[in-house]
Amino acid sequence: MTPTDFLVTTPLPDPGMRLLETAGTVTVAATRPSRDELADACASGAYRVVVAQLQDEFDADLLDRARITGISNFAVGYNNIDIAAATANSIVVGNTPGVLTDATADLAFLLVLAVARRCVEADAFVRAGKFRGWEPELLLGHDVSGATLGLAGFGRIARATARRALAFGMTVAFCPRPPGDRAVSAEELGEFAGRVRHVSWPELVETSDYLSVHVPLNAETRHLVDGSVLRSMKRSAILINTARGPIVDESALVTALRDGTIAGAGLDVYEDEPRLAPGLAELPNTVLLPHLGSATVPVRAEMARRCAENAVAIARGERPPYPVNPEALAR
Ligand code: GLV
Repeated sequence: MTPTDFLVTTPLPDPGMRLLETAGTVTVAATRPSRDELADACASGAYRVVVAQLQDEFDADLLDRARITGISNFAVGYNNIDIAAATANSIVVGNTPGVLTDATADLAFLLVLAVARRCVEADAFVRAGKFRGWEPELLLGHDVSGATLGLAGFGRIARATARRALAFGMTVAFCPRPPGDRAVSAEELGEFAGRVRHVSWPELVETSDYLSVHVPLNAETRHLVDGSVLRSMKRSAILINTARGPIVDESALVTALRDGTIAGAGLDVYEDEPRLAPGLAELPNTVLLPHLGSATVPVRAEMARRCAENAVAIARGERPPYPVNPEALAR
């Protein structure tokens, strides 16, 4: 039996499906496969490349049994795939970097503004017919200009968020690899030289008015923001997370928001998506979005193009344009 070139777990936006269909044979899962259905499909020998989403978990056990050539992940992040196990099994992984940087930074800054100015509460107030006219102390929020934005991480999305913050008159500090640190060269600092401050993780936590998380999820960053970090933050501080949910201990966050340890949170990602920690949805000092960082029509289209191009190259035994583990090809 000749394997089908592409198993698509969830259809891609345009032009993704078109590019896959032009290049080879495509099977689209009727519904998103469970972990075991995905494992069986990967082990069956019926597919060359899986075109996957963040919810599709490729653990070591699945990858050790898999008879596929590659995985093209429709995301820049790939924490859903055990990359070491993929490489050990000569399974090439591709992702979609670069295109979603500005859209995600826009969303991080949207959350800064929305939490600071109580946008969602205020909108609900108007819709509920409670607006009786201008009042001196109606729904007062926090200032953004003049406040300090702390960036956990200094990658593409963190730097794009820094640009927005500087334009809003914020002071910007960053810690490039929390909870530790790393050197940042003058070249990496680039346009930000003299405009942003490189500080330690404890200093970032203690001094930020807004602390925005921009690190990948891995063993070092899981629960980077835990109860003790939350207790070290200013009581007036606001936490923003557009990276990955498990970087924040979500139940500790609920406690901190409930008892006033910090003032608010803007979240686009959750520890156990799509479930929310008990109590989170009841807190008025939060703005909660359903993982929309890259959700614009042009960005998702470009992600779909890159995802399809990766899948096509992998199916042909070529290096994908956006490889995560190119070393798997050489094996
Ligand atoms: C979205 O979260 C992505 O990693 O692309």
